[in-house]
Amino acid sequence: MTGQIIVTDEGATRVITLRRPDKKNAISQDMYRGMSDAIDKVQNNPDTRCIVITGGSGVFTAGNDLDEFLKEGTSESKTPRASNAIKFLYSLAHNVKPIIAAVDGIAIGIGTTMLFHCDYVLASTHATFSTPFIHLGLVPEGASSLLMPRTMGYQRAFAMLVMGRSFTAEEAQTAGLVNMVVSPGHTEAEARKVARDICKLPAEAVAISRKLLRLPAEELTRRIDQESHLFGERMRSAEAVAAFKAFFARKKH
Ligand code: COA
Repeated sequence: MTGQIIVTDEGATRVITLRRPDKKNAISQDMYRGMSDAIDKVQNNPDTRCIVITGGSGVFTAGNDLDEFLKEGTSESKTPRASNAIKFLYSLAHNVKPIIAAVDGIAIGIGTTMLFHCDYVLASTHATFSTPFIHLGLVPEGASSLLMPRTMGYQRAFAMLVMGRSFTAEEAQTAGLVNMVVSPGHTEAEARKVARDICKLPAEAVAISRKLLRLPAEELTRRIDQESHLFGERMRSAEAVAAFKAFFARKKH
């Protein structure tokens, strides 16, 4: 598909790379579709044992494309926003293959919330994690209101989701979101190593064990739906539209 999402199969590992460097890998509707297709298509393929998601060197993603948020927030249409982001989140909720994330730089918004659906997270010392929904007049998405307190504890989740505080790689590791911190430029190579390790394990036992550890997909999608409903309403709020406009106006001052 679009050159902004590169999907390659390396042995039993599917590697999904975000490649929109001029926009800090901000994720557009097309990119969401590319990622969810890449995940969905291997679900029933025993030849694929692992998935790696990476932003390449120096950046993971600046989150949802704010230009698309602004268009949606100011749209006259009564129909809800394009749903490829939700489709992607559903793909994560239903996914049965271990996902390893390689975060070398900023992971903003969905760049952080998607990590709670991953199984192993590698960060470089330059990585930062933030969900600035509150500063945009928005609310949590991607089942983060369920998964973040479960992973990091309520107080850390409050600081991140409700106060919009950012975490360093070290803080994210202490909080339990990150498995391992490596030097900048090394996250992808380490992710491939972890993937190779997982691919060597007995596949059926990995699948069963993983399923035991995770919340059922129905519980995740129920929360995704609940959050999306509120998120969709908030996107059209005066607070949110003003924040989207302020982002694109910032360089003109
Ligand atoms: N959506 C759309 N475009 C984005 C974007 C986003 N989420 N994040 C960055 N960009 C674009 C910028 O508009 C800029 O485009 P331009 O060169 O055409 O003007 C380009 O990416 C580079 O961003 P810039 O802000 O100049 O780089 P920076 O190093 O000064 O700051 C960020 C990087 C990521 C900290 C900053 O861009 C930012 O805060 N982005 C918004 C993050 C966000 O709120 N995401 C949504 C979460 S729900």
